[in-house]
Amino acid sequence: MNIFRAKSDLKKQNLQVAQPGAATAAIAEMAVEVIDVVRTYRVGGSDVMALRAINLAVPAGKWIGVKGRSGSGKTTLLNCVGGLDHPNSGTVRCFGRDITRMSDSELTSWRRQQVGFVFQSFALLPTLSAWENIELPIRIAGQKGRRARTKYCMELVGLTKWANHRPYEMSGGQQQRVAIARALANHPRLILADEPTGELDSTTAREILSLFRHIVETEGVTMLMTSHDPIVLEYVDEVVELQDGQRVDNG
Ligand SMILES: Nc1ncnc2c1ncn2[C@@H]1O[C@H](COP(=O)(O)OP(=O)(O)OP(=O)(O)O)[C@@H](O)[C@H]1O
Ligand SMILES: [Mg+2]
Repeated sequence: MNIFRAKSDLKKQNLQVAQPGAATAAIAEMAVEVIDVVRTYRVGGSDVMALRAINLAVPAGKWIGVKGRSGSGKTTLLNCVGGLDHPNSGTVRCFGRDITRMSDSELTSWRRQQVGFVFQSFALLPTLSAWENIELPIRIAGQKGRRARTKYCMELVGLTKWANHRPYEMSGGQQQRVAIARALANHPRLILADEPTGELDSTTAREILSLFRHIVETEGVTMLMTSHDPIVLEYVDEVVELQDGQRVDNG
C-alpha cells in the first residue's frame, strides 16, 4: 500500500485528511498533514513558486524521505512542516493541531516541545561541549529531569565517552550524533532532518541512517527527512519526490 496518497484518493477511501470535522480516528493516525500548501517567494519583482499546492500525509511512527533535485522545494516543505516558514496558503496539521493558525509565540512553544531539527551542517554551538549542546533544549524549555535525559540521549547515539568534548574535537559523524541527541532531548514527536548525511562519507552516512532507523523503531518518533543521497531510500519507510515544487511520486 502506498501511504502517500493524493488528497482525492484519500477522500475516495474515506480517509479525509483536510476537511474540518473529518473522522477523528483518521486524523489521529496521521502525524503530519500538509494540505494544498503553496509557498512563493518574491525575488527581484517576480514570484518563485517553491511549493505548488503540495499534499502529504505522514502516518505516526513512520520515516518519510523527501527527494528531488536542488531547488525542487524540499527544504521549504520541511520548514513549513516545522513552522520555520509560513505557507502563503494551505494548511499544515501536526498531530491534529493546525500550526498554520498559531501565533508566533504559540508556534515557538509548540516547536520546542514537539519538534527536533537536524541539519546538514550539524549547527552545534562551538563553545559548548557535546553534553551542554544536548541539554540546551531541555534548559530552554525548563523541563525537569535534564541530567537523566541528556545521559539517555548520549547513550542512544553512542557518544557517552565524548560528553566533555567540543564539536571541533569531533568528526562529522560524531557531531551529527550530537545533533541527533540534541534533537531528541525534549522528547519530540516529530524529527525534521534536512540533508543530514550531506556532509558525511558514505560509510558514516550509513551509520547515521542506521541510527535514525533505530530511533524511529525504539523512540516512537515520526520523521521527515530530505536527501539527495540514493542510499537514504534503503532506510526510509516511504519516499516522496518533488519536482519544481510539486509531488511527482505516485502519492
Ligand atoms: N528565502 C528564499 N527567498 C527566495 N527564494 C527562495 C527562498 N528559499 C527558497 N527559495 C527558492 O525556492 C525554491 C525551492 O528552494 P528549496 O531550498 O526548498 O529547494 P531544495 O529542494 O531544498 O534545494 P536543495 O536540494 O538545493 O537544498 C528554489 O527555487 C529557491 O531558490
Ligand atoms: Mg534544501
